[in-house]
Amino acid sequence: MAPRMTSPPSPSKKLVYLYLLLVFPIAATLIYVPKLNAAVQARGTDLRPTLHPAEIRDGQTALALRLAKHLAPASSNSTNNGNVAFSPVSIHGALSLVAAGARGATLDQLLAFLGAPSAAGLADFGRRIIHRVLADRAASGGPTVLFSSGIWVDVSRGGLNKAFRDVAVQSYKSSVTRTMNFTDQPGQVAEAINSWVRIATNNLIIDSNITANDIRAAGTDLLLANAVYFKAKWANPFQAYHTQPDTFHRLDGTRVQAQFMSHTMYGLHYASSVDGFKVLKLPYNHGRDDAASHARYSMYLFLPDQRQGMTNMVGAIAAGPDYLYTALPKTAVHEAITVRLPKFQIRFDWDLDSDLRLLGLSLPFSPESADLQGICDKNHHGRPTFLHKLLHKAVVKVDEDGTEAAAAVTMPSFSSGMQPPPIQFVADHPFTFFIMEERSGLIVFAGHVLDPTN
Ligand SMILES: *[C@@H]1O[C@H](CO)[C@@H](O)[C@H](O)[C@H]1NC(C)=O
Ligand SMILES: *[C@@H]1O[C@H](CO)[C@@H](O)[C@H](O)[C@H]1NC(C)=O
Ligand SMILES: *[C@@H]1O[C@H](CO)[C@@H](O)[C@H](O)[C@H]1NC(C)=O
Repeated sequence: MAPRMTSPPSPSKKLVYLYLLLVFPIAATLIYVPKLNAAVQARGTDLRPTLHPAEIRDGQTALALRLAKHLAPASSNSTNNGNVAFSPVSIHGALSLVAAGARGATLDQLLAFLGAPSAAGLADFGRRIIHRVLADRAASGGPTVLFSSGIWVDVSRGGLNKAFRDVAVQSYKSSVTRTMNFTDQPGQVAEAINSWVRIATNNLIIDSNITANDIRAAGTDLLLANAVYFKAKWANPFQAYHTQPDTFHRLDGTRVQAQFMSHTMYGLHYASSVDGFKVLKLPYNHGRDDAASHARYSMYLFLPDQRQGMTNMVGAIAAGPDYLYTALPKTAVHEAITVRLPKFQIRFDWDLDSDLRLLGLSLPFSPESADLQGICDKNHHGRPTFLHKLLHKAVVKVDEDGTEAAAAVTMPSFSSGMQPPPIQFVADHPFTFFIMEERSGLIVFAGHVLDPTN
């Protein structure tokens, strides 16, 4: 149902400016030594999570896969060498927050898009994953995980609806819900948002792309932001002295020299080979166990057998959550494996709204039909509420970070000639990565590396 207009629409009717942002630096180190993590192996019990309804988890994963496919190169010999990184958790969380204020057909479309049965189910899912899966583990030596949201609303909107605010605070960790005069103080509004972004991202994103002009020019009444910051060390770090320049083959057939980290792992590790691609799991250090969190983060690398196999591979993986979870390596491999992975750093700015429309989410963006009346207290002042913009920013950094965990490396000596040659996992051509929390199966970050030197 379209919002009722009691006076002529204001000339600037772009009311909701959804700013979504996330940062993901992995100052990471890794290698693989016997680290038996049975979470994936015991799929069916563990991956079909006890934490939250699998249905919504699968909805989140399905969205992640659709976005990953949408952002993958369209042809196998594409001349596009731009790397991609995004956070499905952040995008799903931001849209779930919008769903908490949506009604009617707009809500139905959001629920279908997010793969959730109800707004209440989504809010419950959000609350559980944010407090359990995305709990910060820095104090016990595990990953630093910061997830937060912020909401700024113009005084003319009369503040946030109480029910909406409660969901925002409890399920999406809104650290800020602030009413300001956007007409009078666009500069202060921009600065409030930008400083929130700096804090939420540990100073990693200092240019949040919001200016006083954005606030003024767009006639913005409401801003929602969401940030995820994740920093973890590899459970088994790479040694910096093994890092060497070597050739990386881009999709268009050209080559670049990239810095390759390298390590040969003995003992148990998780790798699989399916349908023309290999999957390797590189676990992050999870810190000391405690009762509060059992989160286990890993990076999964998906490497096509063919140098130009990324488009086909992503097409296959994107078939759906069932296929993905089946393709993940579930049994520990005992053979030695040599891993060569280029260091890379991705800064990805993404204006999501047109892509979401292409993927079928249209109503929240429609000035005529959007029904987001549950967000603010005042909705009948001639200005409809609809989503205007959705920005997403991700920074992903992968390196060996060789200092801290170097002592963890064990390299059993074998008598030469007695061992079969190690399996090779050489990421010298475009590959895909997912950073997942294994107990829940949640994809926290995803991306495509097309040229690690970009
Ligand atoms: C990519 O492959 C298609 C068909 O295989 C071919 O028609 C096209 O010219 C190729 N493009 C480039 C840039 O090589
Ligand atoms: C916001 O600022 C404008 C411009 O100074 C002013 O006209 C308006 O009354 C203010 N709104 C409120 C609710 O204070
Ligand atoms: C954000 O700002 C940077 C630098 O000013 C620019 O390169 C980038 O395109 C902007 N991103 C978006 C999504 O507007």
